[in-house]
This record gives sequence, structure tokens and C-alpha cells, in this order.
Amino acid sequence: MNIYTRIAGTGSFLPPRRLTNADLAAELASQGVETSDAWIVERTGIRARHFADAGVGSSDLGTEAARRALEMAGVSADELDLIIVATSTPDMVFPSVATMVQNKLGAAGCPAFDVQAVCSGFIYAVTVADAMIRAGSASKALVIGAEVFSRILDFKDRTTCVLFGDGAGAVVLEASEQPGILASDIHADGKHRDILSVPGHVSGGNVLGDPVLKMDGQAVFKLAVGVLEETARASLTKAALQDSDIDWLIPHQANIRIMQSTAKKLKMPLEKVVVTVDQHGNTSAASIPLALDVAVRDGRIQRGQNLMLEGVGGGFTWGSVLVKF
Ligand code: ACO
Repeated sequence: MNIYTRIAGTGSFLPPRRLTNADLAAELASQGVETSDAWIVERTGIRARHFADAGVGSSDLGTEAARRALEMAGVSADELDLIIVATSTPDMVFPSVATMVQNKLGAAGCPAFDVQAVCSGFIYAVTVADAMIRAGSASKALVIGAEVFSRILDFKDRTTCVLFGDGAGAVVLEASEQPGILASDIHADGKHRDILSVPGHVSGGNVLGDPVLKMDGQAVFKLAVGVLEETARASLTKAALQDSDIDWLIPHQANIRIMQSTAKKLKMPLEKVVVTVDQHGNTSAASIPLALDVAVRDGRIQRGQNLMLEGVGGGFTWGSVLVKF
């Protein structure tokens, strides 16, 4: 008998402080940085983002998202036998956000660890959890993407600080006799390190380097569009499915123009693409599970439909997961 990994529940959480483009533009103007709602909407599709208050970390956002996913799945925290958190903005250097979430949920004992693949982190984390479930080493797994990117933005750099937001999304995965995750595909190529990075680190009690996000937007754009098509096709091939078998495309929410180009290459109408970038901005590893949860809860995504989740991010990393919901 084959064991598959099924999504038993989804959840998400956004910190309450919401800034529209106009709110952000006003805050930036007070520091002498000029931007506008019109520029941000035209180049990115973003209209608003949420920022966590001081003292609120990825583990807080991730725990709230996890509670909602557990409730939908009808699973209690002490039944979990695996917790993986995808994040590039952990609460501290260590311990991991996953162990903090485990503690906040009141669970103990199961393995808990973080995965660092930037905006592809959730795809990587689901791929690892799926492999562990199919190998029989876990049967109920919590996978979270949680980020507070507002902490690593340079608010003097208008080319990056308008793009990102904070939030978390989660799924509860369960071993099942029914599919389930049909295929996944993950990749990395470290030679592209410098087009998207936060080049700082802790050493000798000091933060060295420049611990804010740096990006060559046009280089990222070009690479992203190519690899997102390739990885979606790789997952389709592994599952012996066609473009037309995808009911919903749930891409990493970086920029509406990247999503439009990917949808076009996969011959999918935009109505079949779940878009939350307009309201959330780019929440890195949280963006895919956040978008998934929004479309599950508003009734667009139905049981039995085929979902293509895909992401690309710093590293460079990229990948996709094709799942029958
Ligand atoms: N407000 C107003 N003007 C701005 C802003 C801003 N926030 N940012 C840049 N500009 C100006 C620039 O200074 C430049 O002015 P100039 O012509 O006088 O020199 C002009 O706008 C054009 O700048 P470009 O950088 O060429 O703009 P571009 O069309 O490339 O858009 C963007 C920039 C949106 C970042 C685009 O390159 C992009 O979408 N890249 C993809 C990267 C991405 O989405 N990354 C997300 C993180 S990575 C990931 O998640 C995978």
C-alpha cells in the first residue's frame, strides 16, 4: 500500500498593523525617501502590506497560523510528530523558530527544525515533510512559513523596502492512503548569491556586514520567470499531468508581473492564479501558505483539485509542489 501526504488543514496569520502604499509613502517621505502608490502598483501589483509590532517575532506569527491549521485539520498539537518552519527571519540565531512554536503550542518531544531557503522555504519544507511521511518517520506534520521581513529592510532603499511584508501561513500534513502530494521538485544554484541577500552576520558580539536586504531586481526578475516555468513543468512531468490539469496556481507572491508571466507560460488564465501580493506584499517563505489558506477559506479551492505551489528566492533557490487537495 502506498503512503501519500495529504493536506489536512491550512491556516494563516497577519499582524494587525496594515500599511497601504500611501501610508508607507508618507512614512518614507518623512525620512526624505520618495515613492508613490502609482509606482508601486504599476511595477509590482502591491497595494498594502502588514508589519509586525516591535517584540513580535516569526514564532508568534507562526504559532497563530499553526493554531488555525490545527483547528481546521482537527489535530491537537500533542499529536504532531514533526514540526518544520521555513523562515529567513528567525527570532534569534538559535534555538530554531520551530522549537519555539512547538513550545508555544504546548507540545514537546517531536522533532522540530527550521529550513532556510528564503522565498522557496515553504516548498523546501513541504518537500522534506513529505519525504519523511512517505518514509514512515512521521504521520502528522506541521509545516509553517513565517517571516518578519520588516526587520531586515533598508527603509532608505525605495527599490526594496516597498516590496515586502510580514505574516505566516501553515499546513497540517497527514499520512494518507489517498493522494496527496503528487510530485515535488527543488533546486538551488549558489552562484547567484549576490543578486538577493542580507549580507550581515553575528561575530564576536557584534553584527558585521550590512544586515539589510540587497537586491538586483531586474536580475531576480529574469531568473525567476525562467525557473518557475521549468520547475512547474518538472513536477507535472513527474506526476504525468499536463498544464491543463492544474486547477489553481499558487505562486510565491513576489510581484504580479512575475506571476502573470508564469501563468502565461503555463497557459493558465489569471483567474486560476491565487493572488494575495496586492494585500500582503512579498512575505517570503510565508507567501505561498498564506495565499493557499486565503483561497481555501474563501471557498475557491475545493477538495480533489490539483494545486501547483511554486516558489523562487535567495540563494538562488526554487521549486514546486503539485498536490491534490
Ligand atoms: N518608488 C518610486 N520610484 C522608484 C522606486 C519606488 N519605490 N523604486 C525604484 N524607483 C525608480 C528607480 O530609481 C528608477 O528611476 P530612474 O529611471 O530615474 O533611475 C525607476 O524607478 C526604474 O527602476 P527599476 O529598478 O529599473 O524598476 P523596475 O521596473 O526593474 O522595477 C522591481 C523594480 C519592481 C524591483 C522589479 O525589478 C522587479 O519586480 N523585480 C523582481 C524582484 C522581486 O520581485 N523580488 C522580490 C524578492 S525576490 C523573490 O521573492 C524571489
